[in-house]
Amino acid sequence: MSSSTSQIRLLLVEDVPQVAQYVRGLLNAQQAIKLVDVVTDGSRVAAQVQQLRPDVIVVDWLLQGRTKGRRVVEVLHEGGLHIPVIALTVPQSPVEPDPKAGIAAVISMPFSGFELVNVVNAVHAAASASEGVHGSRVIAVFAPKGGVGKTTISFNLAVTLATLGHRTCLMDGSLQFGDLRSLLKVPGDAPSILDLPTDRVGESDLADVLWRDPSGIDILLAPPRVELAEMVSVRDVDKVVSLLRRVYQVVVIDMAATLGDVSLAILDAADTVLEIVTYDSTTIRNTLAVADAFRAIGYPAGKVRYLVNRADSAGGIRPDDLARALGRAPEHSVISDGKLVVESNNQGVPFVLASPEAQISRDVATMAASLLKAPAPAAARR
Ligand SMILES: Nc1ncnc2c1ncn2[C@@H]1O[C@H](COP(=O)(O)OP(=O)(O)OP(=O)(O)O)[C@@H](O)[C@H]1O
Ligand SMILES: [Mg+2]
Repeated sequence: MSSSTSQIRLLLVEDVPQVAQYVRGLLNAQQAIKLVDVVTDGSRVAAQVQQLRPDVIVVDWLLQGRTKGRRVVEVLHEGGLHIPVIALTVPQSPVEPDPKAGIAAVISMPFSGFELVNVVNAVHAAASASEGVHGSRVIAVFAPKGGVGKTTISFNLAVTLATLGHRTCLMDGSLQFGDLRSLLKVPGDAPSILDLPTDRVGESDLADVLWRDPSGIDILLAPPRVELAEMVSVRDVDKVVSLLRRVYQVVVIDMAATLGDVSLAILDAADTVLEIVTYDSTTIRNTLAVADAFRAIGYPAGKVRYLVNRADSAGGIRPDDLARALGRAPEHSVISDGKLVVESNNQGVPFVLASPEAQISRDVATMAASLLKAPAPAAARR
C-alpha cells in the first residue's frame, strides 16, 4: 500500500543482464518508481518478495533456470499474493494479460520508459483501488481460556498475511502481560501503545512507536509493566485501532483471555473475531458462554470464526461433538506440532518462516487465505 505521494516499489525478475540494465536505465530517469531489486533466479522470488515487499513485480516470461518465468507467475498467484505482476516478453512470444491467472498486464520488448512507467502505474492504481473496495481488516484473535495458542497463532497468522503482500500490523491486545514482548525478546525500553499521544494520534506518531520485526510485520507492543496496563483506556484502544485500520491492510490483535472493557472494545472494533477452541471441556464450556454473550451484544454470527488449535489432539472428544456444541463445524483448524512451535517460539521466530513446508504452517496459510475471502468488513461489522 503506497500512498500516491510515495514511490512505487518495483521488483524485477530478470536473468538477462542487458534487459535488467535497460530497465534500470529507463527507471533512473524518473522518480515515481523505485527498482528495489533484480532477482535472477526464479526460485528466490518468493523470499525476496517477502523481504522487500514490493508494490509491483515485473517477471520476464522467458526467464530460464530451474524455475521458468511462467512458473514464477504461477507460484506467486497460487500463493494468493496480493501484488500485481506484469509479464515481460518479446513479440515472438506473445502473452495475454490474464488477471485470473495472476498476469495483471503484459509489456513487450522493446518498450520506452514512458510505456514502462504507465503500465506499472496502471496496475498499481488498479490494485490499490480494489484494495479500497475490500477495505482493511481487523482480526481479533481471542479465546476465553488461557494458553490455547492465541499469541502463537496471532504472530504466525500476521507474518503469513504479510508474506502474501498485505501490509500487516500485529497489535498486542494482551495489555497486562504483553505476551509479544517476551515472545519476540523485545528490549524492556521498546516503546508501546502508552507512548502514543493521548489526544490527537496521527500516522507519523505510529511510526515512532511500532516495533519492526525482522519477520516483516510491524508490531504495536503492550506496556512494559503489568501495572501500566490500566493506563490504557477504552477510548485509547478505539482510537489506535481506527488509526491502524487507516495505515494497514490487515491488523491482527492478540488478545487476553478475559472479557473486560478493553477486550470488548477490541472485539467491537474487529471485523472478524478468530476464536480459538481446543479439545478441552473447560475451553468448550467457556466458548459457549462467550457465544451467548456475543449474541446478547448483537454480534452477527459471521463475525466469529472458530479455529480448532491442536486439532489432532482430540483427547477423547470427537469432532462431531465439538461441532454440535458450537452449533457448527469450526471454520479453521491448525494441527499440533510441539517441537516446531516450542523451538520457534523460544527463538522468537515465526514457525511459518522457520518451516514453511510443515503441516502446521500450511494450516495457517489455508486459514489466512480463507480469512481474506471472508465477507467485506462493513458487512461483518456490528
Ligand atoms: N498448534 C500448536 N502446537 C503445539 N504447541 C502449541 C500450538 N499452539 C500453541 N502451542 C503452545 O501452547 C503454549 C501456549 O501458547 P500461547 O502462549 O500462544 O497461548 P495463549 O493463548 O496466547 O496464552 P495466554 O492465555 O497466556 O496469552 C505455548 O507453549 C505454545 O508453544
Ligand atoms: Mg498470549
